[in-house]
Amino acid sequence: MDMEVTAWMSLHHAMNAKDDRRPFSKATLRRIGRFARPHRRLLYAFLALSVVMAVLAVATPVLAGRVVDAIVDHSASSTIVKLAVLIALLALAEGALGLANRWLSARIGEGLILDLRTAVFDHVQRMPVAFFTRTRTGALVSRLNNDVIGAQRAFSDTLSGVVSNLVMLLLTFAVMIGISWQITLLALLLLPVFVLPARRMGTRLARLEREAAAHDAAMSTQMTERFSAPGATLVKLFGRPARESAEFAARARRVRDIGVRTAMVQHVFITALTMVSALALALVYGLGGWFSLRGTLDAGAVVSLALLLTRLYAPLTALASARVEVMSALVSFERVFEVLDLKPLVAEKPGAGTVPDGPVAVEFDDVRFAYPSADKVSLASLEEVATLDTRGGVDVLHGVSFRAEPGQMVALVGSSGAGKSTIAQLLPRLYDTDTGAIRLGGVDVRDLTFESIRDTLGMVTQDGHLFHESIRDNLLLARPEAEEDELWDVLRRARLDTLIEGLPDGLDTIVGERGYRLSGGERQRLTIARLLLARQRVVILDEATAHLDSTSEAAVQEALAEALDGRTAVVIAHRLSTVRAADVILVVEAGRIIERGTHTDLLAAGGRYADLYRTQFNDNTPLEPVA
Ligand SMILES: Nc1ncnc2c1ncn2[C@@H]1O[C@H](COP(=O)(O)OP(=O)(O)O)[C@@H](O)[C@H]1O
Ligand SMILES: [Mg+2]
Repeated sequence: MDMEVTAWMSLHHAMNAKDDRRPFSKATLRRIGRFARPHRRLLYAFLALSVVMAVLAVATPVLAGRVVDAIVDHSASSTIVKLAVLIALLALAEGALGLANRWLSARIGEGLILDLRTAVFDHVQRMPVAFFTRTRTGALVSRLNNDVIGAQRAFSDTLSGVVSNLVMLLLTFAVMIGISWQITLLALLLLPVFVLPARRMGTRLARLEREAAAHDAAMSTQMTERFSAPGATLVKLFGRPARESAEFAARARRVRDIGVRTAMVQHVFITALTMVSALALALVYGLGGWFSLRGTLDAGAVVSLALLLTRLYAPLTALASARVEVMSALVSFERVFEVLDLKPLVAEKPGAGTVPDGPVAVEFDDVRFAYPSADKVSLASLEEVATLDTRGGVDVLHGVSFRAEPGQMVALVGSSGAGKSTIAQLLPRLYDTDTGAIRLGGVDVRDLTFESIRDTLGMVTQDGHLFHESIRDNLLLARPEAEEDELWDVLRRARLDTLIEGLPDGLDTIVGERGYRLSGGERQRLTIARLLLARQRVVILDEATAHLDSTSEAAVQEALAEALDGRTAVVIAHRLSTVRAADVILVVEAGRIIERGTHTDLLAAGGRYADLYRTQFNDNTPLEPVA
């Protein structure tokens, strides 16, 4: 009981935070127009066809009236046959055109989904890492799926529906007034009785649907986060499964209640509609019959009127709720545009160049850096917070300068949180510096194409992520054209060949999400193999051997030494063996380089490095300095 109350409270809090409905700007509408532009031929065809279909729909009741008149007038039977054949032909034509019309609207709608999806995917892919560190994956995926589909509905269903219904309505009215304006006016009087409550119900339905959509999105976020291997592990270790379930159940129950309410509101709506149109029909028959008896109206006209009336209410219903539907569809468009409008903080300059051929030097020149604040990189609705943090982060790097000559190996050492990984991430432009410059082969990285950076620089990150794909695919990411024997060669060098040969599917074994089917060390060796395959000229290793035990480390060290040979390397090290091999050691503390030199020099200086050496690097390594 208590648990449910808290679950509910957090639920309401989240819902209120998300309610940011605004009127729609002309700019949004113009933008939707731009997305529709490529489909305008189909759109015109669709609209033209809608008009033709409306005309056909009105023609049949009129012809039916003619049949009745022919019967009453005792006309030649050939007239009746002709009319009947015409009615049949119209029905056939209506069917055929309906098919064409459906194809057109589906083609436009699905085409729009395609355009929006690819645009969003393309754009999100270009967002900097900072964006992904802040965004909830579930919210992003829902943006790609639900909102894109919602936006498409605005087009193929609502907007086009409004046009064809409007045409239908006007035409029907015109014909009815032409037959008997008195009866039409009287039937019209019933209209407000019906339209006013219909609008109220439309609004109510839309509100219910919006609430249900918010709950659906929240549930899918909860699932994507909890049902990943690391998420599930965390819940098992620290989580409160009962609380998680209660929260989920509270949402699911609310969705059920909304579903029942929606169904009831809809049914009441339809019943009311049927009743009003039945009343109007009675009116037409009664009044029309009376006029007919007095000779002011043909019997056929009464039948035509009655038939036309039944065709009046369907478009009326559609139009009554159209405003709300258009609005909610526009919300979807806005939510998609919101993502498309995010400017990638790290973007390629127009006319960006490439790294010069030959060995590459790496240079940091007075680099100061703070991680960007949330409002610069993300969207409140994707982080699922009310407002974004505008506070800029504090500086993490305070003027870092160093140079790795071509072929040199620079080692970064220092306490955890000192800024070593940050330095490593700036080189491949996972983030951009605020001040100072970072150069690859003498060129500022901000003046290089992403492709050139990727081709020049390889990195093994601290977490060594793998995709939930086969080992082969994970390796080929580095060099898609690599041959089979090259794959085995790098696996051998990373000491993974025997392990993978022993797997039932070999190279085609799927490594689970985040590589959970491999041990930490195996995963790390696979990322090293990937690096060896890519053969870039500059290599960054961020604690690449942290998860290895000392035996496999020794083996992998050999492979790494081979990989680093002749390359420029920045190595964030936690083992003495790596550090000692470095040409230059940089000691990083609190975002500054406080010492630099070779192992022997630094040890002799007796500063921070000597401290670290005694406390951190003395794992099974002889204490005496190497000559
Ligand atoms: N994505 C991030 N956003 C904000 N601050 C971060 C981020 N990543 C790291 N930091 C902060 O930057 C500092 C340096 O971190 P890091 O470079 O990862 O240290 P190291 O690799 O030396 O252990 C730490 O204080 C950390 O809290
Ligand atoms: Mg680190």
